[in-house]
Amino acid sequence: MAAYSNIWILCLMFSVLGNGFLPLEASHHAYRNLHLIQSASFANHSYRTAYHFQPPKNWMNDPNGPMIYKGIYHLFYQYNPKSAVWGNIVWAHSTSTDLVNWESHPPAIVPSQASDINGCWSGSATILPGGKPAILYTGADFQVKQYQNLAMPKNLSDPYLIEWVKSPYNPLMSPAQERLNASSFRDPTTAWLGPDGHWRVLVGNERKHVRGMALLYRSKDFVHWQKAKHPLFSLQNTGMWECPDFYPVSIRGENGVDTSVLGPGVKFVLKASLDDYKHDYYTIGMYDHQRDRFTPETAEFLGNGSGLRYDYGKYYASKTFFDSAKNRRVLLGWVNESTGNSTIDLLRGWAGVQAIPRKIWLDAFGKQLVQWPVEEIEKLRTNQVGQPSTVLKAGSVVEVSGVTAAQADVEISFGVSTVVENAEVLKPGGSTNPQELCSQKGASVNGKLGPFGLLVLASKDIQEFTAVFFRIFKDGNKFSVLMCSDQTRSSTQLVYDKTTYGAFLDIDPLKQKLSLRCLIDESIVESFGGGGKVCMTSRVYPTMAIDGEAHLYAFNNGTQNIWISSLSAWSMNKARIN
Ligand code: FRU
Repeated sequence: MAAYSNIWILCLMFSVLGNGFLPLEASHHAYRNLHLIQSASFANHSYRTAYHFQPPKNWMNDPNGPMIYKGIYHLFYQYNPKSAVWGNIVWAHSTSTDLVNWESHPPAIVPSQASDINGCWSGSATILPGGKPAILYTGADFQVKQYQNLAMPKNLSDPYLIEWVKSPYNPLMSPAQERLNASSFRDPTTAWLGPDGHWRVLVGNERKHVRGMALLYRSKDFVHWQKAKHPLFSLQNTGMWECPDFYPVSIRGENGVDTSVLGPGVKFVLKASLDDYKHDYYTIGMYDHQRDRFTPETAEFLGNGSGLRYDYGKYYASKTFFDSAKNRRVLLGWVNESTGNSTIDLLRGWAGVQAIPRKIWLDAFGKQLVQWPVEEIEKLRTNQVGQPSTVLKAGSVVEVSGVTAAQADVEISFGVSTVVENAEVLKPGGSTNPQELCSQKGASVNGKLGPFGLLVLASKDIQEFTAVFFRIFKDGNKFSVLMCSDQTRSSTQLVYDKTTYGAFLDIDPLKQKLSLRCLIDESIVESFGGGGKVCMTSRVYPTMAIDGEAHLYAFNNGTQNIWISSLSAWSMNKARIN
């Protein structure tokens, strides 16, 4: 009954007031009225996930302030307590002991001061000396001017950190002081402490609507902050940098290091969530802590379809933290819906999931990052099925049976043994943009070496499926491996965003395993190619391949036989979430 009355209210609002967007904030549409329409008392079950983090209902976006405190992991997130579209933003709060099962707490930070009265937006946690956490976050006022504010835990002996107290000095950073663009001044990073005893923090900004940058602020006491003359780094034509992240990575091994670590054993990662592209781009470089300058190692950085990305699918506004309990750096990221339509989200009563937390480290060659789902997720694996090494014949499709295919974890490795001459030539004069290539050469377009991979969330008759696959090209006298996630057949419904995603995978398929892992969970598929060198997340809404009706297949649409050198698949148990 409640759900129907909500639909009526929704229709009424559309007809009386119109579904106007307010041009307030670029990243999410700000609505004139939709953000106040209450969701049904229970979110509609269709497409809800079993082991990805979601609140019981309503809208969620960025992960905020992740940290570990007294052995408990904390995840705050941007949340609309009233509705399934963006607006009325508070910091919702959940905690976990394993990054898999989560317990919900009351919102930690809600609008109350002049400098956050219109929304408590994204920010980060910093562990101060003595182990005391502090949160810097963005507040918006009624003109959507943005400020940076501080909140501290009320009771440090509470490992759940339920109550937070805002600083009476808020705002600590104001756009007016520095004549900054007040509507593009947000998302403070985790701060780091320099050898000179001064804290540093970055804030995302854009100058003259084109030059994106990470502004640098310094402080002695974490309360009084002074903007440095120069940003840490800026780049023309990149637009607004949302949710910057800046951290050291060890040049050797997979262990993470704390955010204030300097020295010859580390390189630095600068990430920006580019509002104009809606993707998280990163670059690796060196940080000169005396001059507070970052120098990227490669010229190719950010935007324009080039540059490295955490994820080549749907994945945004991510943030890392150093997990001191396991000596690793963990990455969290928001995965939005692909419904492309706020009415659908309102009717479902929810929107947004968090990706499975990923361990993140520098690849052995030092040129890119590698990501892998945190090991704790493997506790949910059950009923393993496997297969010894077999040939996957040209033009064949083989079912992987025995797993609950709508809720699964699959690891497969492919082997090829052939010469470069037998691969398709990267078209001279044709596109070399991987996403374009994947769109032109989807899973059903036959090739020579590939396409081969998995059909996930597939209907029994293979009319509906999401294809995650490789296609190997001849590029000069070497191989070039393309990885794609093709959603064009993922649903019989036409309304959804079915963009095909693609990226090149930097491996030699003759020397290394061409591996693919897919975490499949009802309406999300997180894919990890080459052991986590390329990640690609898709949101899909099948109409046939739902729950028990979903199937999993391996396929080879090339003219050459290849090998499945290993295959393991597990059904995944449901996690206890909120
Ligand atoms: C990124 C973002 C941030 C902002 C927050 C508001 O998705 O736009 O820049 O702080 O979301 O919810």
